[in-house]
Amino acid sequence: MTGINGQVGHALLPKLMDYTVTAVSRDTLDLSQADAIRDIIREIKPDLIINPAAYTAVDKAESEPELAHAVNAAAPQVIAEEAARLGAAFIHFSTDYVYDGNKQSPYLESDAVNPQSVYGKTKLAGEEAILAVGLPHLILRTSWVYGAYGKNFLKTILRLAAERETLGIVADQIGAPTARDSIADAVVQLVQQWAADEAASGVYHLTNTGETSWHGFACEIVRQYAEMQHQPTLKADVANIKPLTTAEYPTPAARPANSCLSHEKLKQVFGLTLPSWQAGLKAVMHQL
Ligand SMILES: NC(=O)c1ccc[n+]([C@@H]2O[C@H](COP(=O)([O-])OP(=O)(O)OC[C@H]3O[C@@H](n4cnc5c(N)ncnc54)[C@H](OP(=O)(O)O)[C@@H]3O)[C@@H](O)[C@H]2O)c1
Repeated sequence: MTGINGQVGHALLPKLMDYTVTAVSRDTLDLSQADAIRDIIREIKPDLIINPAAYTAVDKAESEPELAHAVNAAAPQVIAEEAARLGAAFIHFSTDYVYDGNKQSPYLESDAVNPQSVYGKTKLAGEEAILAVGLPHLILRTSWVYGAYGKNFLKTILRLAAERETLGIVADQIGAPTARDSIADAVVQLVQQWAADEAASGVYHLTNTGETSWHGFACEIVRQYAEMQHQPTLKADVANIKPLTTAEYPTPAARPANSCLSHEKLKQVFGLTLPSWQAGLKAVMHQL
């Protein structure tokens, strides 16, 4: 498994104690080096490769497209090729940013993709490369990942709300905040169930259920934090979190206005539904 120091990889690794896992961080393997990927897979000869590592700096990717492509597109292709040689399976992660966000209802896995950012384009290229190799695979598109560990929106909001009395947060982008622990729990179940049914290979949406805006997420973070009487107490309260438009908060990379992903396929094929985003947040709050 790659990316063990990232949000998802770090949550997943301790949940895979029943398996013999070779945990690979950037120190051991730089995913921008195709030959190094080949060498390590040929040495380890895994039955299953899980790849939560990715170039995830969405805005920085606009000025580093080659590196983002190497990690998000070329690396999954090499991993898939090597896994196919060994007869191994591949679990890979992708993103809501493969969609343009113009749909008015939750995206289905079968909907047209149309990424608007370098990050989204490189993640889509990674998906396409895996599909082209044609091995047993799960490509799990998730969104708005956060947790008690790592750099993420939750941590940023708590820091800002401790420093300032008012915050301005984008309110016209909607999606599902997804706790890294919810993803990890689901992946453990998928590993168990999928082993018996590799015909279920495919692209799946994997997010906490429900939807909100970044503004709604920020308000719920502050509300739950205050309710749990965490220390330090925050300077900002919910009434002082102001909604902004995307135009009022410009970023180098375009984000989808609608990031909501349907979960019907995951439910139908694997009988799996993740907790609501509010429940996911509550569980994370207990870890702070
Ligand atoms: N974060 C989100 O909001 C979000 C949303 C939708 C989809 N996703 C997808 O979900 C998956 C997991 O994301 P995450 O939130 O866990 O990401 P993350 O916290 O940013 O972790 C990414 C990991 O990839 C590693 N990495 C980056 N470049 C590398 C390289 N050249 N060689 C080796 N390792 C490298 C990083 O290593 P270092 O620790 O050394 O930097 C880090 O451990 C990714 O596929 C991501 O695209 C994430």
